Amino acid sequence: AEIPDSDYVIVGGTGDLALRKIFPALFWRYLAGQITTEFRLIAAARTSMTVEEFAATLRPFCADAIVDEDDGEAQWAGFIALIRIVALDVVSGEGGVTLAELVNRRLSPERPLIFYLAIAPTLFGAACDTIATHGLAVPQSRLVVEKPLGHDGSSARAINKLLLNVFDEAQIYRIDHYLGKETVQNLMALRFANTIFESQWGNHAIDHVQITVAETVGVDGRASYYDKYGALRDMIQNHLLQLVCLVGMEPPAYFNADQVRDEKLRVLRAIQPIAPEDVVRGQYEAGEVNGAPVTGYLDELGKTSNTETYVALKLTIENWRWAGAPFYVRTGKRLAQRASEIVITFKNRPHDIFTKPGAPAKPDVPNRLTIRLQPQEGLRLQLTSKEPGPGGMRLFPSELNLSFDDTFDQRLPDAYERLLMDVARGNQTLFMRLDEVLAAWDIIDPLIADIKQHDLYKYKAGSMGPAQGDDLALSDAHAWIDPHVG
Ligand code: BG6
Repeated sequence: AEIPDSDYVIVGGTGDLALRKIFPALFWRYLAGQITTEFRLIAAARTSMTVEEFAATLRPFCADAIVDEDDGEAQWAGFIALIRIVALDVVSGEGGVTLAELVNRRLSPERPLIFYLAIAPTLFGAACDTIATHGLAVPQSRLVVEKPLGHDGSSARAINKLLLNVFDEAQIYRIDHYLGKETVQNLMALRFANTIFESQWGNHAIDHVQITVAETVGVDGRASYYDKYGALRDMIQNHLLQLVCLVGMEPPAYFNADQVRDEKLRVLRAIQPIAPEDVVRGQYEAGEVNGAPVTGYLDELGKTSNTETYVALKLTIENWRWAGAPFYVRTGKRLAQRASEIVITFKNRPHDIFTKPGAPAKPDVPNRLTIRLQPQEGLRLQLTSKEPGPGGMRLFPSELNLSFDDTFDQRLPDAYERLLMDVARGNQTLFMRLDEVLAAWDIIDPLIADIKQHDLYKYKAGSMGPAQGDDLALSDAHAWIDPHVG
């Protein structure tokens, strides 16, 4: 089988991430036949519960999948039969013996033994030690972790050192779930499986790149976590910079983990220090999102705070391909709509043959390639065409439109589904290598260090961020292109 039967141990297996993301993703893969009845899914958690209790808690998160399948109930029962619950306290080590006994029954070099740490990073060291103490850090073991892997470069280094005390880099899978998104992977197909774009992919043909990740959610329920991080650490350091890398990287010789990550690393290292005037931080105030009134960040948090919920910044990648073609990135919570897009704006035509000499020039609508990450995944290419009719050479903008929904009549899997199966496959291509994580912190650390120099601008919930964010692009005579749904 392409995917070997595995033991998947989810530490923190009854927590929020496990219930919302990990187990539903595993269930979908079970329905797809990738998780066979030979898998075991072990939820290790501090508070013990029976499998029946766990199944009842998990069920609402899998309801869609159960309903969609003809024999959903039978499938659900089959899936639940793979689950074991172990009471484990990684700090005291209590429960480690039970876990080891359970795992050892099927221990074999061919059978991946996967530990997914769905717990707070402050517990990562203790969890790794518990795994090692009970002899479970074996060559076929793999460790899955997720951000926040630290709140700056030095804490990221410290946490990773704890992981590397027990596991090799080749055993560590650092999730950035954006890399598991279908359209993000499609970006690589678009660039490296087609010839027409790659020859245009650089400063000779591209004017600038914009990346917008707009969210409508606030920080509901996680304000106290979020307040320590803010958008720079929560979104830019990882998801947005990863997108920059995928747009900016050179073609690797092979699509394999180290080559892809080598190329992404080169992009990160070519990004120039970001000047204070190239960063805009914002924080939402009360407003209205999708027609419903919402409170401001400070009210949600219940105290005053200087944490940003919006960031816009300008990045310059100083290499042959990108010098002179800037990247503008922005992300924010409580914006007008949930929509993420990468927009590549090409240079204007060098000369206009359609305007008579001496006549006022017609406004240019440049060619533009938009990669829509979510929702309504797809690609749009903006072209200029002739308006039909005999009224002369009138130009108007038109679009080639590829909607994945219409083209592929199938459900797009959630990012976690792909990533969880890649761990079992032993494929690290879509996971972050340590040097990448640290290089990304090298870009963010200086910004955080002088955050006091950066103003924090209020914006109304339901807007597209503070006006100063718009000025950032305008100062280079560019305007943000707002995502459009539909
Ligand atoms: C997470 C952030 O990594 O990504 C959240 O911590 C954010 O703050 C989320 O809301 C966005 O992910 P997605 O898949 O909904 O775009």
